Amino acid sequence: MRLGFIGTGKIASSVITGICNSKINYNKIIISPRNRNIANRLKKKFKKIIIAKNNQEIVDKSDWVFLSVTPMVGEKILKDLKFRSKQTVISFISTITLLDLKKFIKVKNIDLVRAIPLPPISLKKGPIPICPPNAKVKKFFNNLGTTVEIKNEKLSINFWSTSGMMASYYEILRVMSDWLVTKGVKKLDAQKYITSLFLALSEDAIINAKKDLKILVKDSQTPKGLNEQGLKELSKQGTYKSIVKVLNSIHKRLNK
Ligand SMILES: NC(=O)c1ccc[n+]([C@@H]2O[C@H](COP(=O)([O-])OP(=O)(O)OC[C@H]3O[C@@H](n4cnc5c(N)ncnc54)[C@H](OP(=O)(O)O)[C@@H]3O)[C@@H](O)[C@H]2O)c1
Repeated sequence: MRLGFIGTGKIASSVITGICNSKINYNKIIISPRNRNIANRLKKKFKKIIIAKNNQEIVDKSDWVFLSVTPMVGEKILKDLKFRSKQTVISFISTITLLDLKKFIKVKNIDLVRAIPLPPISLKKGPIPICPPNAKVKKFFNNLGTTVEIKNEKLSINFWSTSGMMASYYEILRVMSDWLVTKGVKKLDAQKYITSLFLALSEDAIINAKKDLKILVKDSQTPKGLNEQGLKELSKQGTYKSIVKVLNSIHKRLNK
């Protein structure tokens, strides 16, 4: 199987790293010359990577084509690319719908799937929502994390919205670790402490993921303790309501 990537940016590079460190059986990975630096770095790091001359060469040489460009670039380039039947096209593009993809890629008998990989896919970790359900694509991504099949696009937009909170999550880690630095802790020690604290909390959360998350919230507070204070003060300041507001606003953008 030959895998092609149109657009070699952040997410393509994470997915390719995951694939190259996985059990997935592939012959070649054909990637875009853009971004040139990332493409060269990937080629140096992994065998079986070929840098194509242009996007059409990627389509021509691949059985599966991953679309990993921004929506604006996608709208510009997709209509001019010539796909062929029996190819599998997997789009990572956030705001181009399946209906629009079908308009751009007019070929019949093609598997068209949208997927939402996230950067930790490079570590073969994390959920990968796909829409519509597709057995072979599900199997493929299960080598790189946990595939979540979503029946319709409207539902998948909800997952997209929550994945728009990654940078905000890291910002919480940054703010907390910078706060430790202002108290005299060395930067690397502060970052190590905060990241391992949140890793442990996430591991605990995933083990308890079948229970209501409210239980974790409750169990991590001692009556009149520090966590109770933290939660109360943040709730009073509207922090959690603002998270819902932001999710609604991202959702609105995706739902256009
Ligand atoms: N980052 C994430 O966590 C994430 C997760 C899921 C989905 N997505 C989606 O995946 C898509 C890519 O995101 P990204 O974060 O990887 O963006 P990115 O880092 O900006 O990557 C976009 C890539 O497209 C290349 N490009 C620009 N014009 C091109 C053209 N005409 N032909 C071929 N390649 C071209 C860029 O190259 P140059 O640098 O040379 O311009 C760059 O390598 C977006 O639609 C995004 O919504 C991202």
